[in-house]
Amino acid sequence: MFTERQLFLNHIAQTSDFPLMVEIEKAKGIYMYDKFGKKYMDLISGIGVSNLGHLHPAVVKAVKKQVDKYMYLMVYGEFVETPQVKLAKLLSDLLPKNLNSVYLVNSGTEAVEGALKLAKRFTGRTEIISAFDAYHGATQGSLSICGNEPFKNAFRPLLPDVKHIQFNKAEDLELITEKTAAVVVETIQGEAGIRVPDKAYMKQLRQ
Ligand SMILES: Cc1ncc(COP(=O)(O)O)c(C=O)c1O
Repeated sequence: MFTERQLFLNHIAQTSDFPLMVEIEKAKGIYMYDKFGKKYMDLISGIGVSNLGHLHPAVVKAVKKQVDKYMYLMVYGEFVETPQVKLAKLLSDLLPKNLNSVYLVNSGTEAVEGALKLAKRFTGRTEIISAFDAYHGATQGSLSICGNEPFKNAFRPLLPDVKHIQFNKAEDLELITEKTAAVVVETIQGEAGIRVPDKAYMKQLRQ
């Protein structure tokens, strides 16, 4: 009889050299509890995914209500599904008026892939600029614009036409030209060590 830790090591594709291996049985609010009853304060919230806290009653209620109606129907873009259209409207209402169309995805890296494709199709250009030390996700397009070589070198060739600028360095902005389809930056660089840019730089970058 294998323990769950052994099953984890034997059958879950390992993505970390030093997995925490904490066996979480339940979680509520900011706390997680392991199978021996030990309590942990969750200071990362699934990298922001569980940012309303674990088992938030409103979220649990909404999920339960929905699973009694239907779960997965079809790749979206075909059927009118109430939860999707309501979410899209809510997001649109919170955003500037010209950002009124939502592309729903399952992960950060897919959001970046969608943005890269949209920029290329809309501009008819191919050059993408991102920052050194940036992290944008693990799929091949997002990986191409990551600015951290060790993440990338086992997977080349990646996307062509990618250039990097130094984050928060106004001089590098001149690398952005009429050939550039998109510039992708984190508003605060995370993986690079929580680097907060100057407001003035972000304004220049947008311009
Ligand atoms: C800035 C940034 N972009 C994209 C991603 C990728 O998100 P996901 O892991 O959901 O694909 C991350 C993940 O940590 C991130 O920090």
